[in-house]
Amino acid sequence: MRQPLIAGNWKMNGSLDSVSTLVEGIKAGLDSVTTAEMAVCPPYVYLPAVATLIGGTSISLGAQDVSDQEAGAYTGEVAPGMLTDVGCKYVIVGHSERRSIYGESDAFTASKFAAARKAGLVPILCVGELLEEREQGITEQVVSRQLDAVIDLEGVDALAGAVIAYEPVWAIGTGKTASPDQAQDVHSYIRAKLAALDSGVAEKVRILYGGSMNAGNAAELLAMTDIDGGLIGGASLKAADFLAIGTAANR
Ligand code: PGA
Repeated sequence: MRQPLIAGNWKMNGSLDSVSTLVEGIKAGLDSVTTAEMAVCPPYVYLPAVATLIGGTSISLGAQDVSDQEAGAYTGEVAPGMLTDVGCKYVIVGHSERRSIYGESDAFTASKFAAARKAGLVPILCVGELLEEREQGITEQVVSRQLDAVIDLEGVDALAGAVIAYEPVWAIGTGKTASPDQAQDVHSYIRAKLAALDSGVAEKVRILYGGSMNAGNAAELLAMTDIDGGLIGGASLKAADFLAIGTAANR
């Protein structure tokens, strides 16, 4: 069985005070989450503080982005080895906000994925279509192209220990969640695509759903066969909501 992963993507939110309150709140209710692995992805500067706060708990730490380079003259960048150094297990790569606001390409995302793996991080590779792409009926082509960039560079095996997050861009931060069936369709498409290359990888890889997942809709999404957890934005900023999503994955 694939252990569900509920990962909170805090995006560019918080302060030293508020992240501490949030983590303490999550810790206080963690016992209610019996099955899922819970992870938090704070902004870079709060990683060490959060690492200390979650020390000794089962909560995992992740970063929201990473450089594709190991070290050197790359002003403003953070290397994968620095993330492992401060205790990260996961790193999000190719989030749609990186792709659309900062113009990060499929190829650049794939090189970040490779760099993250090389440093021992588990990449959470985000894929997903824009609203106009869904309306054009090309969701599967878009997701396939985004996955192929990684498969071409790293081979399908690289996805065995990784996490994929299907995040329809039109559902992110909009309150417009994909229906469980809409999400399941794309998740099963992704798993079938991988199965055609390597059935073991397809069975193993965790495919999260992201896009306005919240305490109210998590259970029905998480009940779908190929949805192995969630990448949660807005609802991960409130301990009670984040925990409710975690408990919705209890089996
Ligand atoms: P949302 O964000 O839950 O606020 O829609 C999800 C994400 O961007 O990862």
